[in-house]
Amino acid sequence: MKLCVLIFTFGALGHAADLTGNWLAASPNGDGTTRKVWLNLKYDDGKVTGTIRATQFLYQIAESSGGPEKFTLTAAVQDEGRERRATYEIAFDGNELTVAQVRNNTPGTPVTAHRVPEGDGALPPRVELPAPHKVPDNGLARTPPMGWNSWNKFHTRVSDEIVRGVADAIASNGMRDAGYVYITIDDTWEGERDAQGVLHSNNKFPDMKALADYVHGKGLKLGLYSGPGVTTCQGYEASHGHEQQDAKTWAGWGIDYLKYDWCGARMMYTDAEERALYQRMGDALAASGRKIVFSLCQYGRVDVWKWGPEAGGNLWRTTGDIGDRWESMERIGFGQADLAPYAAPGHWNDPDMLEIGNGGMTDAEYRTHMSLWSMLAAPLIAGNDVRDMTPAIREILLNKEVIAIDQDTLGRQATRASKSGDQEIWTRPLAGGDTAVALFNRGKDTTSIAVKWSELGLKKNPSKARDVWLHKDVALKGATYSAEVPSHGTVLLRVRK
Ligand code: GLA
Repeated sequence: MKLCVLIFTFGALGHAADLTGNWLAASPNGDGTTRKVWLNLKYDDGKVTGTIRATQFLYQIAESSGGPEKFTLTAAVQDEGRERRATYEIAFDGNELTVAQVRNNTPGTPVTAHRVPEGDGALPPRVELPAPHKVPDNGLARTPPMGWNSWNKFHTRVSDEIVRGVADAIASNGMRDAGYVYITIDDTWEGERDAQGVLHSNNKFPDMKALADYVHGKGLKLGLYSGPGVTTCQGYEASHGHEQQDAKTWAGWGIDYLKYDWCGARMMYTDAEERALYQRMGDALAASGRKIVFSLCQYGRVDVWKWGPEAGGNLWRTTGDIGDRWESMERIGFGQADLAPYAAPGHWNDPDMLEIGNGGMTDAEYRTHMSLWSMLAAPLIAGNDVRDMTPAIREILLNKEVIAIDQDTLGRQATRASKSGDQEIWTRPLAGGDTAVALFNRGKDTTSIAVKWSELGLKKNPSKARDVWLHKDVALKGATYSAEVPSHGTVLLRVRK
């Protein structure tokens, strides 16, 4: 009996000591790349401490229980003032770890982790942060960029085949001619860097240059996604320390637009350092030899609208990610009122991409989405499967009179003229003296909304307007105009000067 206890104790201690070290759990992404989780563990006195690096986060282990053969770790990281936690169930057989991340109390698919040398997965040295200066204006995006992006619909499933199909559809269904020209491949196109540091695309994109040629051949432009950090949000290779090299690679492929996402930079840099990191890529694009639209994606942190243009940005996200739900679109869209002063030709506020046609809202709600984004002079980046759209969705995305408001050359973003409960009136001055006026009903019932011209700052009562959803001229009489607006719907008028 005594002997048994002795053996068991020694066995356990042996495992415990072995647990300390650097471990890598790698699982295939299905595109030739692997999803990597590094666990740098220290087992001491019955407790596990250390770090876990997974996708865009470097967590500190905050709690451990059980062990050493079977234990649960909870790791935490501070992100924008709030704590983000990740929990893992881990089994240790003395040789390998079996790691399963626990979400909603349910362990996910277990992945085997092997021992790797100390230093593997460590963050690279920080790059030198340039002093702020003005990146020269690239002369692009005189009106808000229009196009399509893969993320909202296809997430990590985007592929060469899908992008070609989308380009075919956009070139033939009227979208290209309506202005939707930038086809952007979002996260998960990235492969590995070679020995020279050159970034390659992964197996889903066998030849990026050939794809760019194809897209250009359709009269369209091609966009890509990367970020200033070591990884993208999905844990793929990003541009940290390779800004110039990547910009040159993309220019060589024929890339016309870059969405640059903060995600993986937050492991190493503070918000106060964002501007310098965006400027590094702004400079790199300027020196790339190709005109590339620069789209900043850092979710509206540190008042990006105040320094985005200086860092070379043509547009900058002003919020977190949109979802295909009325509540999400409504919160984001109606939350933009204070940002109007920062929009101008070449430099746009970006309240995120369109969800029109993705199925989570009614057609009336999608018309409000399109109306609101057009009033906001927002980039119109479709996010649905444009290869397969209902006629109603097609009409919304292709309403040329609404698009003309978005693309107005004056480039003035709408402001809220009035709000009364669920009723809101927004206005936007247009080139040539017309005024766009939107009557929004955020409520649950159809309601009549009245607009008083004097409250919009119009010098005299207008006599003519165009209802751009009904495609009808409207005769105006007197000091007010009122219209029935369905629940979550919009009446959008172009009031003639
Ligand atoms: C972030 C961005 C999204 C999308 C994903 C991709 O969440 O805000 O628009 O690019 O990353 O991983």
